[in-house]
Amino acid sequence: MNRDSRIYVAGHRGLVGSAISRELTLAGYTNLITYTRAQLDLKDATAVRDMFKLERPEYVFMAAAKVGGILANNTYPADFIRDNLAIELNIIEQSRRFDVQRLLFLGSSCIYPRLCPQPIREEYLLTGELESTNRSYAIAKIAGIEMCWSYNRQYGTQYLAAMPTNLYGPGDNFDLKSSHVLPALIRKVFEAKSANNRNVEVWGTGTVRREMLYSEDLAEACVFVMNLPEQTFQSLLNTEHPPLVNIGTGIDVTIRELAERVCRVLEFEGELVFDLSKPDGTPRKLLDVSRIHGLGWHAKTDLSEGISKTYQAAREQLVHLGQGGGY
Ligand SMILES: NC(=O)c1ccc[n+]([C@@H]2O[C@H](COP(=O)([O-])OP(=O)(O)OC[C@H]3O[C@@H](n4cnc5c(N)ncnc54)[C@H](OP(=O)(O)O)[C@@H]3O)[C@@H](O)[C@H]2O)c1
Repeated sequence: MNRDSRIYVAGHRGLVGSAISRELTLAGYTNLITYTRAQLDLKDATAVRDMFKLERPEYVFMAAAKVGGILANNTYPADFIRDNLAIELNIIEQSRRFDVQRLLFLGSSCIYPRLCPQPIREEYLLTGELESTNRSYAIAKIAGIEMCWSYNRQYGTQYLAAMPTNLYGPGDNFDLKSSHVLPALIRKVFEAKSANNRNVEVWGTGTVRREMLYSEDLAEACVFVMNLPEQTFQSLLNTEHPPLVNIGTGIDVTIRELAERVCRVLEFEGELVFDLSKPDGTPRKLLDVSRIHGLGWHAKTDLSEGISKTYQAAREQLVHLGQGGGY
């Protein structure tokens, strides 16, 4: 990408999209194309076509998606599959029609099979049963990867899927009905501390393991792969396998350890209480990151440092939410 390339960041106000936009701006890219949902509903095929016709992006980061935690995925499976399929169909097809040079599709580690060997290698996609709690989301995301792969084979496009592990960072979602595990823990611990409670409730057994990646590290990795030299980028688009690259730290912790870290960063000295009636989700999810390491990229941000930065960025919002403020 050149500094003046036209770069479309879809979903630029989300956790991933905002981090990618910041990373691009900091690196000196001056021609970012961004639209809010109110300006452009990505489910609307005509509106997406018109935007591509007007803006003619050369590079696309696909960070727009309907995303949520276990509860939201379980409650609204139809919304998850419909919205994500529509967004993917519209953006990928218009990228092809308007000759986008490279596209990076954001996949996710949660779409690998539920019980696949650990650490998870890229080639394990579609080798086993999916996690039932986010099945419709996973199928939609797998369809997006399949589209990238098919378009590469049929049209010679350069569409790659990044497969990030669990993310957290500034701009995270702290709504307990739809948030992921780490922002949910930060909010619960913050509120317990503010109310002088002795206990914090944590969903599940606390024994399942998760790898956590700071969103700004992911953004750096996304820009890094989009800038790979032609031959190296092409080597990731092997026609025999889906065009995937895992992005993570290669290190996982139990949910108990994660909750303990949050308590330490927020200086909360109460007890963790595990609610065994709540689902655990996948027992373990650790990515094999040898492919991205082999390309020369490593995650930088230590977990406690990332939790601290995320908490500092969210403090005002947490105070507001604690006073009964909504979203
Ligand atoms: N967060 C994670 O832990 C994680 C982990 C692995 C992979 N990923 C992947 O990263 C990508 C982005 O996730 P995220 O966590 O950044 O999600 P997010 O914070 O919810 O952001 C998603 C963005 O997409 C936009 N969007 C959704 N539907 C839209 C529509 N119909 N039209 C226009 N814009 C729409 C949202 O706009 P509004 O702001 O208007 O809602 C928001 O800006 C997803 O593909 C996800 O699978 C995320």
